[in-house]
Amino acid sequence: MKVLELKGVSKSYRLRRFWGRGAELTVLREIDLTLHRNEVLGLVGESGCGKSTLARLALALERPDRGEMRFLGEPFWELPGRRRKSLRPGLQAVFQDPAASLNPRHKIEALITEPLRLQGVPRTEARERAAEMCRLVGLPEEVLSCFPHQLSGGQRQRVALARALIPEPAVVVLDEPTSALDVSVQAQILNLLVDLQKRFGMSYLFISHDLPVVLYLSHRVAVMYLGEIVELGPREVFFSGPLHPYTEALLAAIPGEGRSVKPLRGDPPSLLRRPPGCVFHPRCPEAGALCHREKPPLREISPGHLVACHKR
Ligand SMILES: Nc1ncnc2c1ncn2[C@@H]1O[C@H](COP(=O)(O)OP(=O)(O)OP(=O)(O)O)[C@@H](O)[C@H]1O
Ligand code: SF4
Ligand SMILES: [Mg+2]
Repeated sequence: MKVLELKGVSKSYRLRRFWGRGAELTVLREIDLTLHRNEVLGLVGESGCGKSTLARLALALERPDRGEMRFLGEPFWELPGRRRKSLRPGLQAVFQDPAASLNPRHKIEALITEPLRLQGVPRTEARERAAEMCRLVGLPEEVLSCFPHQLSGGQRQRVALARALIPEPAVVVLDEPTSALDVSVQAQILNLLVDLQKRFGMSYLFISHDLPVVLYLSHRVAVMYLGEIVELGPREVFFSGPLHPYTEALLAAIPGEGRSVKPLRGDPPSLLRRPPGCVFHPRCPEAGALCHREKPPLREISPGHLVACHKR
């Protein structure tokens, strides 16, 4: 079953006073992405390619300029306001910086139970459920009476996770949830995420710039470049192939992989100067004349494996 669908979704922002004039920044271009029930879909790409923008659209925090967002089969933005409001608890998020996403003036109990209190759940029941969530995310119940600054970074991220999971969401969008944590804590949180996903059968959209982390956690992986999906497939294909030249470069950059792929040329391009044809052509070692002229469609090259490249 499809729990979340982005169909032909595009998103631009108007930048004022850029070189003295207004300019339009197209961040996402014609994104098609489906998240199934009980699935972890990984999204990987360089800094600035539009991952967090896509996260905000998937969470219905922003509306696409074009295209459609469907949640649990319903066209989210076409629904009456009350129906949209009733669906919102089903979409939850965990962001990179737990310190920034938790109000420092509130105690942990208030922070974890807030989604329940918004739904009108009585305080004693909400507290019992918060204590149960603490147990599930590996926090002692005593933290409920603490403030966020009294906890470590890893503990704060467990609080953010408890708060996201308490309304029993269908979808959790995890935007770089471990990037701000040190390596040993990172591994604990990743394992916890895997356990909780299996236990509750939720769907995750897991976003990271770190391909090994995405491959560890995800059932399917989408690779993004300059606001476009250039490859999408089950995690297994990322260990076999054939693959998009950008994905090959990402794989080659993993220490110890030892693949003989030419390194990426040049710097990451700017969204303000999106190259014509294939967006990757200025950095692609295989680029030919057609690549400069025509945008390659995202084609299915084997069941469930899609690649946007003229040469695959
Ligand atoms: N509200 C906005 N107004 C103008 N530009 C924006 C807005 N939101 C995002 N952008 C621009 O969109 C581009 C993509 O940003 P986004 O945060 O989605 O990238 P990202 O892939 O999440 O990067 P990172 O890995 O660094 O988190 C950036 O150039 C950013 O400046
Ligand atoms: S379409 Fe051409 S430029 Fe783009 S990735 Fe494929 S070979 Fe490289
Ligand atoms: Mg981001």
